[in-house]
Amino acid sequence: MQLINKQIIEGNINKMNKVTLKDIEVNGKKVLVRCDFNVPLDENKHITDKTRIVAALPTINYLLEKNAKVILCSHLGRPKGEVNPEFSLKPVADELSNQLRKEVKLASDVTGASAHELTNNMNEGDVVLLENVRFDPRETENDDELSKEFASLAEVYVNDAFGACHRAHASTAGVAKYLPAACGFLIEKELKVLGDALNNPVRPFVAILGGKKVSDKIGVINSLLDKVDVLLIGGAMAYTFCRAEGYTVGTSICEEDKLDLARELVQKAKDKGVKMLRPVDNVVSKDPETPGFVVEYNQIPDDCEGFDIGPKTAEIYINELQNAKTVLWNGPVGLFEFDQFAKGTNAIANCLANMEDCTTIIGGGDSAAAVTKAGLSDKMTHISTGGGASLEFIEGKTLPGIEAIPNKN
Ligand code: 3PG
Repeated sequence: MQLINKQIIEGNINKMNKVTLKDIEVNGKKVLVRCDFNVPLDENKHITDKTRIVAALPTINYLLEKNAKVILCSHLGRPKGEVNPEFSLKPVADELSNQLRKEVKLASDVTGASAHELTNNMNEGDVVLLENVRFDPRETENDDELSKEFASLAEVYVNDAFGACHRAHASTAGVAKYLPAACGFLIEKELKVLGDALNNPVRPFVAILGGKKVSDKIGVINSLLDKVDVLLIGGAMAYTFCRAEGYTVGTSICEEDKLDLARELVQKAKDKGVKMLRPVDNVVSKDPETPGFVVEYNQIPDDCEGFDIGPKTAEIYINELQNAKTVLWNGPVGLFEFDQFAKGTNAIANCLANMEDCTTIIGGGDSAAAVTKAGLSDKMTHISTGGGASLEFIEGKTLPGIEAIPNKN
């Protein structure tokens, strides 16, 4: 796995040709860094998954080594343009202070008096975090005045918020017009790993797609059918495919209005020579709290809902995976939040964790959470920090936060 990792990092670097951190002068300068610190918090405001904070450290540490004055900003949740202490970045400032072993001062506003006071009084190597950018309603409108206000705080802008790059907001896109701008190391790494897998995969290339709805993933399935050798379908989405073949699926989640679409996708797979598999058995029950049992795909009782792939399916999928040289996984294959329906997802996670000679890429969001829950994160080649952003990237869409960074000359 190490060797493959190295190939990814060294090969095909920065296909998008964007200016990156090492291309710009940051020594001693005030640098505004947009991060994605949208981390999960429990009821006591403790961060339950620090992945996004840890992933931002290489860029921050590099800037500190260059004696920059580091001004961090991020959103947290969706406070809808209102100041709401529930969504304060205070827990993030505390965690950053721990990780960096230095005080990270939190401004009490976004671009107001507090932000100006703190950023005007910085020494080299200081770190300031602005308050949640979505406390300002102009952020999500990509308002030009707010973009200028962000720019007025710094001399250089670095976007390292891969998870928010699909948003055209003032702090992710607008501000880049008004300062010399570059991508940070996290974005650079995400683009390299995801870009290489999609554009130049070592084959066989196998994708596993889960999730609730076919309609949420049409773009992703379409795009992957042009690239993969094998596509393994799991999650609730599989029942729509099963229904499209004429089988009943009990009370399973099923998009009756997407059956034609499912058939078209199956046909596209045939036309493209992609082996597209759906589950041949499932774990079902009346509800997630009631003990589940295994049935064949065409035997789901009328009063039962499918919550996981069955053991035969897991075996078939693992056989396919074991031949793979590149695997992209997006979406758990079952309701893994319930232990009794986590077996399929865990079987896949374990299989990937033990593959020696394969690049294993986990799309963000739920599949990343499943791998973390299984304690296997450090066994994967790459876990994307982007949920929606990585999906849009896989779909081949333009990400405004990346688009806003200039190309290298
Ligand atoms: C995410 O968690 O996917 C990103 O931080 C983006 O958050 P958003 O969907 O609220 O824009």
